[in-house]
Amino acid sequence: MSDHDHNLPEVDLSKPPAEGMVRVTFEPENKTVEFKFDTMPYDGHGLPMSFLDIAENYGVFMDHACGGVSACTTCHMFLKKGAEGVSEAEDLELDRLDLAPGLQLNSRLGCQCVIEKPGTYIAEIPSWNKNYVQEGKPSTTK
Ligand code: FES
Repeated sequence: MSDHDHNLPEVDLSKPPAEGMVRVTFEPENKTVEFKFDTMPYDGHGLPMSFLDIAENYGVFMDHACGGVSACTTCHMFLKKGAEGVSEAEDLELDRLDLAPGLQLNSRLGCQCVIEKPGTYIAEIPSWNKNYVQEGKPSTTK
């Protein structure tokens, strides 16, 4: 939902997030959002409090061809910071990630990787993933 876009409150990046807050930066857009843990409404995409859910809530583009049910890899992201505060990947996610191009040690599916604690998180959305979809290749899944 990109219409939230312009209403993003400024986040003061010179200070760590206040207690009980979640701060998420999405790269390469470099968009940072901050909200109180456990207060974000569920947007209906991916697991509640997944990176996809947060991206959708704040108008950050993260593709999700399968609707967020671990059945594609278009929400592939790299978790650059915050690994200690997120859910462990389940087998379904790991099996799916095996099929993802550009796999790295910090690869996660944005729809399955759930933030479980307040803190600072950085997710990089590989830009080639976007291009791949824009070219009209895997916009549907099996
Ligand atoms: Fe399809 Fe995450 S949106 S696996």
